[in-house]
Amino acid sequence: MAEASAPAKAILLGEHAVVFGEPALAVALDLRTRVRIEGRGTSLMVNGEPLQDKLRLPHVHHALGLTGEPWGPLAITIESRVPGSAGLGSSAALSVALVAALLQQKGLAPSPRDVARLAFEVELGVQRGMASPADTSTSAAGGAVLVDSVEGPGLLWSFERSGRRWFLHRLEAPELPIVIGNTGHRAPTGEMVARVAQGVKRDPAMAATVRELGDLARQGTKALAAHDVPALGKLMDRAHEGLRKLGVSTPRLDELVQAVRPHSHGAKLTGAGGGGSIVALTDKPREVSEALKAHGCMPILTRVTPRGLEAGP
Ligand code: PMV
Repeated sequence: MAEASAPAKAILLGEHAVVFGEPALAVALDLRTRVRIEGRGTSLMVNGEPLQDKLRLPHVHHALGLTGEPWGPLAITIESRVPGSAGLGSSAALSVALVAALLQQKGLAPSPRDVARLAFEVELGVQRGMASPADTSTSAAGGAVLVDSVEGPGLLWSFERSGRRWFLHRLEAPELPIVIGNTGHRAPTGEMVARVAQGVKRDPAMAATVRELGDLARQGTKALAAHDVPALGKLMDRAHEGLRKLGVSTPRLDELVQAVRPHSHGAKLTGAGGGGSIVALTDKPREVSEALKAHGCMPILTRVTPRGLEAGP
């Protein structure tokens, strides 16, 4: 039997800008996906159902392929506390935990770097080449991770793909309380990225906003290093304004951000936008939760966790 778990993530600063080579800062959240694998039964089963249809559970198909077919009969059990389609990296957490459990089942003891690389490949396969390693690496490494196109201090690992190189760095981070507000709606990441790319091409003001968002992420790494949570929060507030200028916020995201700001160091949309979630950095999680509930949104109370990929229950 093999077992592994991996956390969700939230981008605190730098989403969209990272597509243009700017840095982004992501944190692992204390919401985990667990995968258990037993070599039993007569076929491949996932959560008690046969895995035949290739379109069902594409991450499982890609992970099985990348970790070395042919696989004999397996019973795979997936349990997740990460809401899907919310910009919280549910597919990355699944890919990381699954790849680690599959390699373990083969008798291997993979490093977080090896798992991060293969899980990135899984995401690339499922999303037809449109993925950055930010989600999978943050899930594998835990804590806070800086993704950049240049190498800096605290390098974890780097990956290259289609002429692009990403350097993943470890940042020291306290276990900050985080509240997530999920709108329950989600626009596909690829569409949002394409829309921003068109805007940036046409409009120099949008290109300037992208650079500004990158600068906020750079300042955010300094605020984190100084454990200056209020400063980090202010940078997040400014980043939300930048993301609004890029056209990736929505009235609902703006409403939720406004609702939680009086009780937060900072709040912003997180991830691709067009729906998805807001993230609030706060030391008053209860007040933030009540504010979200008053606006018809179920809060998720969590915190930044140093725990990345873990083997075993
Ligand atoms: O919403 P998510 O978790 O898919 O994040 C997307 C982040 C982007 O910067 C918009 C795209 C990317 O690949 O980095």
